Amino acid sequence: MNAFSHSSETSSNLHPYAKLLSEAEAACRLAGSIQSQAYGKPIDYSTKSTPVDLVTEVDRACDEAIRNHLSQAFPEHLLLTEETYVDGTPVDLSNTWVVDPLDGTTNFTHGFPFFAVSIAYVRNGSPEVGVVYDVTRDECFSAIRGQGAWLNGRPIQISATASLSQCLLATGFPYDHRIRPEDNIPFFLAFMSRCHGVRRAGSAALDLCYVACGRLDGFWELRLGPWDVAAGALIVEEAGGKVTTLTGDTVDYSQRKISILGANPATGVLDEMLSVCRDTPTHKSDSVYTG
Ligand code: IPD
Ligand code: CA
Ligand code: CA
Repeated sequence: MNAFSHSSETSSNLHPYAKLLSEAEAACRLAGSIQSQAYGKPIDYSTKSTPVDLVTEVDRACDEAIRNHLSQAFPEHLLLTEETYVDGTPVDLSNTWVVDPLDGTTNFTHGFPFFAVSIAYVRNGSPEVGVVYDVTRDECFSAIRGQGAWLNGRPIQISATASLSQCLLATGFPYDHRIRPEDNIPFFLAFMSRCHGVRRAGSAALDLCYVACGRLDGFWELRLGPWDVAAGALIVEEAGGKVTTLTGDTVDYSQRKISILGANPATGVLDEMLSVCRDTPTHKSDSVYTG
């Protein structure tokens, strides 16, 4: 059931993206059922870019199931999926499904129940439809640009927390563990001392959705992939939030390494977060966070 199943729209006045939303949700649920069957059982993993960048047969099976589903439903669309992307190839986001088949593989591998499937439909660089599905809680977050954001079909709203000092934030750390001055630790320390707490739960897509529904007040992370953030960022925006880079610029989802920050612009929390980033000593330009 998706958000439009709850509305009074008839088939003659369905939103043009309604079918994309329902197929994306179906693909998420397919992958979710693969994940729930394997979850909690011993699982082999191999490593990708670094010894802590894990991939399992479940990531690959979910990736394949989603690709099959979406390419059958929309043969004319392009697919950018984490497990088939070849490093260094240009990212074409003209008419493209952007897929993270399992966001939070490290959590999944360790039996830590915080992982999700993330699927966005991106048109001319702009995420237009997004679905993030957490099978362990049966929570399906979704959005269509201009139409709102939902959790299991009910509208969601970003938090109205009035100041950074009262916020609960989240972040994450890239798999490249070489400590560099421009890494996230200075930001972590700067935010930690200015808010109620900072969580590092291990799924950027779900972190963004938790911002969208007010469980968190803000999120930032460096060097993410387009598949980590395209759906969650749209869900944040459609819930009343705003996403930018750490320097306050528009996010370019065709970049392989994306720095992103999301919060409520209306309360001033977004500006407070951007100003913390600006004042953090390692700050130079956004390019240092994406390389
Ligand atoms: C990871 C998660 C994690 C974030 C990492 C991502 P994966 O995705 O989103 O929260 O901190 O940077 O790569 O590899 O589990 O799909
Ligand atoms: Ca991911
Ligand atoms: Ca993944």
